[in-house]
Amino acid sequence: MTPPRLKLDGISYRYGDLPVLEKISMTVQPGEFVSILGPSGSGKSTLFRLLTAAITAEAGAIAFDGKPLTEAGRPFAFMPQRDALMPWRKIIDNTTLGLEVQGMRRRDARARVTPLFGEFGLDGFEQNYPAELSGGMRQRAALLRTVVQDKPMLLLDEPFGALDALTRAGMQRWLEEMWQKHRWTAMLVTHDVREAVHLSDRIYVLSPRPAKVIREIVIDLPRPRGRDADTLARAAAIEADILDTLLKPDHRNGIPDREHAAE
Ligand SMILES: Nc1ncnc2c1ncn2[C@@H]1O[C@H](COP(=O)(O)OP(=O)(O)O)[C@@H](O)[C@H]1O
Ligand SMILES: [Mg+2]
Repeated sequence: MTPPRLKLDGISYRYGDLPVLEKISMTVQPGEFVSILGPSGSGKSTLFRLLTAAITAEAGAIAFDGKPLTEAGRPFAFMPQRDALMPWRKIIDNTTLGLEVQGMRRRDARARVTPLFGEFGLDGFEQNYPAELSGGMRQRAALLRTVVQDKPMLLLDEPFGALDALTRAGMQRWLEEMWQKHRWTAMLVTHDVREAVHLSDRIYVLSPRPAKVIREIVIDLPRPRGRDADTLARAAAIEADILDTLLKPDHRNGIPDREHAAE
């Protein structure tokens, strides 16, 4: 049997004496879109730091395609929560940054990125600076820089968190279409229940800090989501149910059974 693309097994982490993650176990299969949904400050970005910055967990193991993460090289293209774009670099030079860091010459990096500007809704803005773009366009540019690195897995940390609600809804639709087309293996961190339900194949719900996985939910809704009344109604019911869990003061301990939310 092929191993999962990513497997976290009993990961615990603390900053000094502040426990942040407690026995986190999760998997992501190739081509799967998985969200980690949890309250602000629960430890979501810390989880991504463990994956990208190779800081060592206090306990537990991380495997990528069946090998310890330390042997897997740097398999993630990571879109950080903040400061994704450098304000002093033009959009074209922001989008090539990840490739240049990997050692690609700027000319080659530009040739790789430029044909994708249309698909990312950025046509004609190559020579502009980030401040001259709308918030949604800036996030699409940051996402372009991330996906063009052609890594086996994407890590997206609250990519739409700073956007207004309407722009965010538009970006979620767009990202779902892009994911259906490209089938990236992706892990998204968010505190937005609607966003998680709209985008994910599976959701891990985290408790407040120290974060434990309190639910794992399979979202079996047909794609694209949020277009027909039936899917919308089912999505809304799942959202309400997850919100109940997140707002409950006492969170269930331990590893949950997998639930199928749309059956
Ligand atoms: N470098 C750090 N040193 C000490 N505490 C930190 C550090 N980074 C984050 N924290 C704390 O760890 C907790 C989890 O942070 P974080 O992973 O950023 O949460 P989230 O991304 O879910 O909002 C928070 O209480 C935060 O204040
Ligand atoms: Mg965060």
